[in-house]
Amino acid sequence: MRILVTGGAGFIGSEFVRATLERYAADEVTVLDKLTYAGNLANLDPVADDMRFRFVEADIANAEAVERALDGCAMVVNFAAETHVDRSILDPDAFVKTDVLGTWTLCQAARAQAIQRFLQVSTDEVYGAVLSGASSELDRLDPSSPYSASKAGGELLVLAAAKTFGLPALVVRGANAYGPYQYPEKLIPLHITNAIDDQPLPVYGDGQQRRQWTHVSDFASGIDAVLRQGRVGEIYNVGNPEADDTLPVNLTVTRRILELLGKPESLVEYVVDRPAHDRRYRVDTSKLLGLGWRPRWSFEDGLAATVRWYADNEAWWRPIKSGERHQAYYAQNYADRSAFAR
Ligand code: NAD
Ligand code: DAU
Repeated sequence: MRILVTGGAGFIGSEFVRATLERYAADEVTVLDKLTYAGNLANLDPVADDMRFRFVEADIANAEAVERALDGCAMVVNFAAETHVDRSILDPDAFVKTDVLGTWTLCQAARAQAIQRFLQVSTDEVYGAVLSGASSELDRLDPSSPYSASKAGGELLVLAAAKTFGLPALVVRGANAYGPYQYPEKLIPLHITNAIDDQPLPVYGDGQQRRQWTHVSDFASGIDAVLRQGRVGEIYNVGNPEADDTLPVNLTVTRRILELLGKPESLVEYVVDRPAHDRRYRVDTSKLLGLGWRPRWSFEDGLAATVRWYADNEAWWRPIKSGERHQAYYAQNYADRSAFAR
């Protein structure tokens, strides 16, 4: 069976591709990716010589390219998206173009062909902040940022295509992923790599926000479970089911990274908060657990392994961080955060 994986050169998509080719000898994978700043062919190096792997550089919003790539595919997993909340505040249009319009173009192409399953990777951020308890798949959507609103728009279009046109769609709403190959703009890889270089670790606001940190290999195996065993038309939350109070707030994550690297607390730098910063996310994963999915990583072990991976793989992240594109973004996002306060 051939699977089209869009956004497969990114963080979670590349983990899914590597794991799928390792686990299913009979499967073939086509990755379609625009190679934005976040797409990196090095993430696919481990499978580059696999005869079952094919790469197409294209935009999911390009109907012709998507139709060609879909030829012969039985399943589609759509990871392709603009994904960073801070960038969605600086440049919201890019998010609407890819996460809404691009998703719709992909849906339309998939329904024109005899696709057996179309899995849309969405996010727990569509629920908005959840101050206590956990979001169930039936909860209302209340996104706070242009990123989460675009993701909500994308998944609602996928679900509408399922109802209206019979697209065999499934939606996964995932919690915060972390692990190897994550672009160093997100909290954990940014703070690890800054700490290695003795650079300040920016903490937004009071650092008391809470995320449901989920190892990327558990996230990818959750997607695999939904793709192969989930019921068409349904939504599944994916997230680390460890007890809420064992998952630390941001500031504790940052301090633990410093501790693991033997770096001083003085590297913590409090900066102006992100606008509309959601205080806490937590999803109820009972529906996914009901499919037999079980995570393999505790956050404690996963964070330590991730810190080791970045320490051992400077050749992967140094070219990204020293690149002009990354430095321009970093300067824009952090140099004058007072702009966010206005
Ligand atoms: P990422 O930013 O690491 O990778 C995104 C990939 O999509 C990149 O390879 C990029 O080149 C590609 N891409 C972007 N625009 C494209 C377009 N128009 N056409 C084709 N390819 C395009 O993202 P990630 O963290 O791996 O997230 C993957 C998916 O999972 C996204 O849909 C995201 O919303 C969702 N998600 C992520 C997390 C998380 O914590 N990282 C949590 C929940 C859900
Ligand atoms: O919840 C799932 C979402 O998780 C995904 O849908 C998104 O694609 C992914 O980017 C992630 O969004 P967050 O905004 O939660 O992730 P980020 O790593 O940007 O931030 C995590 C927390 O850390 C958040 O509360 C903001 C804070 N933060 C982040 C950065 C980059 C800081 O305090 N300092 C920082 O420098």
